[in-house]
Amino acid sequence: MAATEATRTKHTLTLIPGDGIGPEVATATQRVIEASGVTIDWEVHNAGAEVAEKRGTTLPPEVLDSIRKNKVALKGPIGTPIGKGFRSVNVTLRQALDLYSNVRPVKSLPGVEPRFEGTDIVIVRENTEDLYAGLELMLMPGIAQSIKLITEKGSRRICEYAFDYAERMGRMRVTAVHKANIMKITDGMFLEVFRKVAQAHPRIEPAEMIVDACAMNLVRNANKVDVIVTENLYGDILSDLGAGLVGGLGIVPGANIGQDAAVFEAVHGTAPDIAGKGLANPTALIQSAVMMLHHLGESTAANKIEKSLLELYARAEIRTGDLGGSATTDQFTDALSKLIATT
Ligand code: NAI
Repeated sequence: MAATEATRTKHTLTLIPGDGIGPEVATATQRVIEASGVTIDWEVHNAGAEVAEKRGTTLPPEVLDSIRKNKVALKGPIGTPIGKGFRSVNVTLRQALDLYSNVRPVKSLPGVEPRFEGTDIVIVRENTEDLYAGLELMLMPGIAQSIKLITEKGSRRICEYAFDYAERMGRMRVTAVHKANIMKITDGMFLEVFRKVAQAHPRIEPAEMIVDACAMNLVRNANKVDVIVTENLYGDILSDLGAGLVGGLGIVPGANIGQDAAVFEAVHGTAPDIAGKGLANPTALIQSAVMMLHHLGESTAANKIEKSLLELYARAEIRTGDLGGSATTDQFTDALSKLIATT
């Protein structure tokens, strides 16, 4: 559904600043996009706990309506209470808009010491099924159950997305990550579907890896994999692991893509330990915005931001605290915006 060429210079998009460091990195990203010359009319909406206090729901209908109308949103992280409280707004949003594909490129940046030189992996995570379906219940005191829901349709469309993505981006191999040795019916079906989809894409080499072995392989030699396609929970865990390989959660972007809408957001959460202090690294959301601009057909602006970001990192003068530096979010954003203006 991505536009191939920008046919207009002004876009109307939805912005969900989110909680914690969300508003800080969202403002930084808006400034960087503006510096790239793309004009965006932002429809700002919020969701989450604070909204629920006023509106009685964590995800008011106008948020979904705005994204459905604009087709594209940029989103900051939204907090989810642990072990109690409301259901994750992030999961609800992805399911409500059927954003079935979560694309998370894990790529090293110049000057940020990765665990392995030249790490360049893309994790394609199924985004609507699995243990995230929310089918949990207490069977009786002391016995709880969570249902792992995997469908043939859901498996097929995510595998097709991964192979199409690999072809489009000039990638060589797609690895299905699974646990079909133990979950023979659910993961077994996912793997069977993967094998069938692979046959229809002879230019891409298919590979298979059990999820625990994949975790070990990524830590030992991340360059062994290229594109990973996997179920929801494995994809969530492996993308944080991936972030750890290339410098942390402050830099890894993501995109939630569906047939009718796309929501771009970083892999990281609300970072309550540094929220409100101006210390957050906005790189992850900025890189998510680069993906968004490509999706909108604004590739010139996307390339400009990406080139400037790489140059800023290569110069190694400005770094936020998560990468060992002392720059604030604003100082980092000022430096990047200046570079963009001269690129
Ligand atoms: P987190 O990603 O918020 O933080 C983990 C660690 O990484 C913290 O030390 C934090 O300071 C650091 N960090 C994360 N992003 C950073 C950035 N941009 N710059 C510098 N340092 C950064 O993970 P945590 O603590 O597990 O989750 C906090 C909340 O975020 C939870 O309520 C969780 O549910 C929510 N969350 C929301 C997500 C979303 O909206 N898509 C994704 C992940 C978590």
